Amino acid sequence: MNAIKIFSPATVANLVCGFDIIGLALDSPKDEIHLFKSDDPGIRINKIYGASLPDDPNKNVAFVALQFLLKKYKQKQKFYQEKKIGFEIKLIKNINPGSGIGSSAASAAGVVFGANILLGNPFNTIQLIRFAMEGERMASGAAHADNVAPAIMGGVTLVRSYNPLDITKLHTPNELWVSIIHPKIEIKTSDARNILKHKILMTDAIRQWGNIGALVAGLYQENYALISRSLEDVIVEPIRAILIPAFYELKIRCKEIGALGGGISGSGPSVFMLSKGNKTAKKVTEVMNKVYSTLKIDYNTYTSPINKKGLKWNKIF
Ligand code: HSE
Repeated sequence: MNAIKIFSPATVANLVCGFDIIGLALDSPKDEIHLFKSDDPGIRINKIYGASLPDDPNKNVAFVALQFLLKKYKQKQKFYQEKKIGFEIKLIKNINPGSGIGSSAASAAGVVFGANILLGNPFNTIQLIRFAMEGERMASGAAHADNVAPAIMGGVTLVRSYNPLDITKLHTPNELWVSIIHPKIEIKTSDARNILKHKILMTDAIRQWGNIGALVAGLYQENYALISRSLEDVIVEPIRAILIPAFYELKIRCKEIGALGGGISGSGPSVFMLSKGNKTAKKVTEVMNKVYSTLKIDYNTYTSPINKKGLKWNKIF
């Protein structure tokens, strides 16, 4: 096989209380990536549809992540044979860059996942996540895994440790749905990280790890009431909320209509809400629309179940 088509999902990082450690994959939107292998060395970005991304390949997350993979692959190959390998990438972006639902992660995860298949699966999942994290490092200044891990593994994932990288997939309750609003304002992940405090109060830490533990328990027990109570962030959200217009109004109104809870998706500007069942999730998305229709800000909304499988692929030839 020399060419592959990959469908790479949007993701919601943090899941309110799990800053940098928890994330989930959505069914939609998703990016489409076409990857072609050749013996013409190097990586070429053939075409990008749906978004204007940097021309400089060294500023493109897909390029950077694939470069890391290729470097490691060449080191492995060196021991037995020297092969010429190159890739050509075509990106069809349906996930808006800078939206806070893992646009850069979808590109980075998609290309490394596809390249691994085209090369005969020399790398395991953790290695692929590590390569994709290098794309995130370039995009946001921090090699966080809470978007790339759910994109690759699907469902809800938890980073137990960054060093060594230890990631596990959690249980996804069947009726869990996600509503998202993407206000079209720019919030750079690097800025949204730079405003955070580096020291936190012990009382806040205790509350936060109580919530994280209970969120994980709630997912396994399919206990929606416990999930709802655990969707609380006393560390990051109080600082970042000021960046998002009508953030608290969104939260209050969505919960009134039946949302379990929610918060900032990744570093924003998107806001997400979890609901039990598709009917409630759709009502929640309508409320999001209502809240934002009174503001003079352009926006998009999405309603999606959780994508339990993560990336999908088809052979082109
Ligand atoms: N965990 C990261 C952050 C996700 O909140 O900065 C960025 O998408």
